[in-house]
Amino acid sequence: MIPELSNASVFMKDPQRVQEILESMLKAGSNTLQVISDFDMTLTRFAYNGKRCPTCHNIVEHSSLISSDCTEKLKELLNYYYPIEIDSSRPVEEKIPLMVEWWTKAHKLLVDQRIKKDMLAVVVRESEVMLREGYQLFFNHLHEHSIPLLIFSAGIGDILEEIILQAGVFHSNVKVFSNYMDFDETGLLTAFKGELIHIYNKREGALLNTGHFQELRTRPNVLLLGDSLGDLNMADGVQDMENILKIGFLNDKVEERKQSYLDTYDVVLVKDETMEVPNAIMLYLTGNK
Ligand code: C5P
Ligand code: MG
Repeated sequence: MIPELSNASVFMKDPQRVQEILESMLKAGSNTLQVISDFDMTLTRFAYNGKRCPTCHNIVEHSSLISSDCTEKLKELLNYYYPIEIDSSRPVEEKIPLMVEWWTKAHKLLVDQRIKKDMLAVVVRESEVMLREGYQLFFNHLHEHSIPLLIFSAGIGDILEEIILQAGVFHSNVKVFSNYMDFDETGLLTAFKGELIHIYNKREGALLNTGHFQELRTRPNVLLLGDSLGDLNMADGVQDMENILKIGFLNDKVEERKQSYLDTYDVVLVKDETMEVPNAIMLYLTGNK
């Protein structure tokens, strides 16, 4: 087995099954592999030195682009809705309308702030966002092996792209599904484009993008990375799937949520701020181990 799977942060309900999936994927070859990953709190760190790191939305919310009054309102929304997002005692169906409400209210507040497109790069540069340790190997290795990486995020696409661009890892194998800002001809934010992606409708988002999965139909083996139970549906558009290995970062409310993560993710990484385990799996699957 991969030695990193014995790390203290790794939990698996069925290690034997993980082994079987990995062997089957290795046998099929890395030219049949695609990677689908969430962004906020999956590719980015949840915390650094005990302090929470920002999501794409938080980056804008805490920036000079918006008024202090608006920051306050967005913080109130976060304080109200985030505990609902991660509450494992409430059924998802009950949470969906509330998540739509959160994203809709937050996007409306942002649009009212007349945000300028050319300021996004500055705001990202000044933010405290951090990709997880080992991100260079993850992005660069997938690129070198021509393995498609789909980043599927309920965050803000423009901010997400800027983060990976500034980190030097927005390679040609990366594709992003996310919420994109719409700007007028003077570069002012006027709306968000297309269908809203929130934390619990990634299945619908995947099914709207059949063209992408059609292009990748020769890659029926999937490595999925997420941090929310909503991320488990990111691969629902994959055609004729053969194997899927689901790796879940459990960052917050560990005790309450551990069992539900163990039941749904094949490999659960508890309070692990690094890409060490996903990287080890990726190296194994590409024959570099
Ligand atoms: O990339 P990902 O799909 O994880 O992005 C969604 C994340 O954005 C959620 O974890 C949610 O807590 C966060 N969010 C936020 N502010 C909002 C809406 C969502 O921080 N207004
Ligand atoms: Mg996330």
